[in-house]
Amino acid sequence: MKKILITGGAGFIGSHVVRRFVNKYPEYQIINLDALTYAGNLENVKDIEHLPNYKFIKGDIVDETFINDLFSIHNFDGVLHLAAESHVDRSIEDPLSFVKTNVIGTMNLLNAAKNQWKDNFKGKRFYHISTDEVYGSLGAEGLFTETTSYDPNSPYSASKASSDHFVRAYGETYGLPYVLTNCSNNYGSYHFPEKLIPLFINNIINNKPLPVYGDGNYTRDWLFVEDHAIAIDLVFHEGKNHETYNIGGFNEWKNIDLVKLLCKIMDQKLGRAEGKSQELITYVKDRPGHDFRYAIDASKINKELGWKPSVTFEEGLEKTINWYFDNEDWLKNVTSGAYKEYYQKQYS
Ligand code: NAD
Ligand code: DAU
Repeated sequence: MKKILITGGAGFIGSHVVRRFVNKYPEYQIINLDALTYAGNLENVKDIEHLPNYKFIKGDIVDETFINDLFSIHNFDGVLHLAAESHVDRSIEDPLSFVKTNVIGTMNLLNAAKNQWKDNFKGKRFYHISTDEVYGSLGAEGLFTETTSYDPNSPYSASKASSDHFVRAYGETYGLPYVLTNCSNNYGSYHFPEKLIPLFINNIINNKPLPVYGDGNYTRDWLFVEDHAIAIDLVFHEGKNHETYNIGGFNEWKNIDLVKLLCKIMDQKLGRAEGKSQELITYVKDRPGHDFRYAIDASKINKELGWKPSVTFEEGLEKTINWYFDNEDWLKNVTSGAYKEYYQKQYS
């Protein structure tokens, strides 16, 4: 039996990855390690908690002793590392917590894996899940490829870039078998409503202003989270050691166009007059260091592993919006308490 550690499995993407692995690989023992920060929520994995090949452990990857003890108790065959501080705006307010989790936390996992596996790396794999933000910002043309130089601009992307470098350094220096992926913006169910799409869905439902940063012409490449989970499964099982794969949706949208589309779909679903939700659009102060455009060239993973997105943006958005309508309690729970303080501070 394979024993797999998935970190950050109570978060947005992590919960989809854990669900996929637990359901698809009953022969694996999946350990979900998560500190349950504001972004982690056991409700995100409630549907699988009873399954015999699944176990949740609450713990902090920054705690070196805890991580070393965890590895000495469990003989892991593989690690899928998703735990992170993930929100750019929070990294601007509190960069150090991003260094702690994203850099030190990753180092603790790398050290523990190296020490446990060093006598025989065969069959072992450390999979680091990263972001396209490490490549910096594109102008109007061009795409990020796996050989694009790193040029991070936010404390978040600088911390992810640093962790990526350490993963590769452990591969080169100690022979640690790793794979690494850099993915574009995800959207879908269980997405915490601090990020653009779920925040705007929640605000449209509640008739609150839609705070578009700057002129709204910033561009992102959007990928349905379940397609990201499929890609992660594929890379974990079939990717080549010491390789990097870019993952993206081939789906670029200017923020303002995306927001208008969201308003249109939501008007139909809420039975509002067309154009009603668009009246909520409010241009607000720009994000400092705001990257102009991200766009991924995902041809390597397509050619080498046969992956491509399975869901169109229209289908994915429809599924996402329906999920938020069907899970009002989830949305209410995560937007009570500390969220209100965060929102007030960020948007007042
Ligand atoms: P998220 O913020 O929704 O979830 C992060 C999870 O990590 C939470 O469950 C949280 O409790 C946990 N966590 C945070 N600090 C921890 C710590 N010190 N110890 C243990 N657990 C901790 O993030 P996400 O959007 O699901 O992103 C997951 C990973 O994918 C991150 O590494 C992120 O950089 C990367 N990524 C995200 C996107 C995206 O669009 N969301 C795109 C590309 C890559
Ligand atoms: O590209 C991958 C990255 O995508 C991930 O690594 C990050 O973890 C994830 O948070 C996401 O980063 P972004 O900064 O691109 O996502 P966010 O949803 O915060 O913002 C998307 C765009 O929308 C960005 O141009 C900023 C803008 N925006 C965002 C918010 C929250 C607004 O205009 N208003 C807002 O209130």
